[in-house]
Amino acid sequence: MAEGEDWVDIGIAEDLSQLPVQRVLARRLPLAVSFKDGRFGAVSNVCNHAGGPLGEGALDGDYLVCPWHHWKFHRCTGLGEPGFEEDCVPSFPVKIEAGRVLVNLAAATARNRKPHPPHPLEREPERAPGKLRLAGIATTVMDEAYPRFSGSDHLLRHALEAAAAKGAETQLIELNALKFRACEGYYSKSAQACTWPCSITQMDESDQMDRVYEALVHWADAVIVSTPIRWGAASSLYFKMAERLNCVQNAITTRNKVLIRNKVAGFIIVGGQDNIQAVAGQMLGFFAELGFLFPQFPYIAHSRGWSHEDMEHNVEVVRESDELKMGAAELVERCLDFAQRLIDSHEMTPGHIMRGGRKAHPLDME
Ligand code: FES
Repeated sequence: MAEGEDWVDIGIAEDLSQLPVQRVLARRLPLAVSFKDGRFGAVSNVCNHAGGPLGEGALDGDYLVCPWHHWKFHRCTGLGEPGFEEDCVPSFPVKIEAGRVLVNLAAATARNRKPHPPHPLEREPERAPGKLRLAGIATTVMDEAYPRFSGSDHLLRHALEAAAAKGAETQLIELNALKFRACEGYYSKSAQACTWPCSITQMDESDQMDRVYEALVHWADAVIVSTPIRWGAASSLYFKMAERLNCVQNAITTRNKVLIRNKVAGFIIVGGQDNIQAVAGQMLGFFAELGFLFPQFPYIAHSRGWSHEDMEHNVEVVRESDELKMGAAELVERCLDFAQRLIDSHEMTPGHIMRGGRKAHPLDME
C-alpha cells in the first residue's frame, strides 16, 4: 500500500447502505458511517462535546446529529455545523471496491475543538449581594383555564408573603405554568451524557426548566417546595422537576462539582389523606442529595387522615386555618434565619466532594 494509505474493509456496501447512520468498527476504531444520496461518509464516532456516539445519532441533511446534545458534524468532512466549522471531528476517505466499503485510516483529517458559547446557566454560582432571597416552588397540577383552590399553593403563597414581610425578596415558580419536558434518561445512556445544564436545556431553548435551575442554583438563598399528596406521594409535577434536577446531582457524582452551596430548603405538604412522613422523607432525601441544608423542623404538613374521604371539608379546613398559616410563616422564619446565619458565617459548604458525596465505594468511572 502506498504511503498515507491504510485501506480497511468495513463491510458489504449493500448491507451498509441499509441504514442512514451506524457505528462500525474499522479494526478497533469506532466510526460513524453514513449513507445518503448514494454516497458513504465516515467520521470518528466520538463527538467533540462530551464524547457522545455519533454513529447512534441521526442525519439532518448532510450533518450527523449527536444523540446526546445535538451538536452537528458534516457526515463526510467532519466539519462542525455552519458557524462552527472549526469544531471538527476526524473524517476518513471512503471508496467502494468489488461491492465492499473501504476506509483509509491513514488519511484522517485532524480533530479540532472550538468551544461553543457556554450556556448562561453554566456560570459559576456566586451569591449576589443584597437581601435574602426566597424561591417558592408550587408543584400542584391544575387546569390553568379553570383554576381551583389548592391547599399547598395557598400555604406557599402565605409563606412568601411572610418572607416579604420580613424583608426578603421572593419569587414564586408554579411548575404548572411552565412548559418543560420530562427527563429523557440521558443519565441511563451514559453518566457523561447527563450534563449541567441539563441536556434538554442545552438542546431546547423553549424548555422552561431553566427558570427552576436559575432560581435554585443561582438566585435563591432559601427554597420552599409545596406539594399536595397524590396516592401517598408528592405530586407528579414534583417528580417531573426532580427527575430534571438529576443533572445537578450528577455534576457532583461525575464531575465532583457541588452547585448548591449554602442554600436552605423547606417543604409544605398538604393531603386529604395521609403518608406525610413518607412524602417528607423523599423530599428531604432528594434535596439533601442536591446539597441543600435544612433548618430544624424543615417541613410543615397537614392531612385529615386515612379514613377521611370528605375532601371538601379538608379544603375548607386548610383555607380557614390560621394555625396552618402561622406554621407556614414560622417555617419561612426558620429557613430565612438559617440562610442568614450561613451568609453571616462567611463559611461555604464544600464546592467539591469525593465520590458523589454519598458513595462509600469508588465510582466505576474513577
Ligand atoms: S456529546 Fe455530542 S453533543 Fe454532547
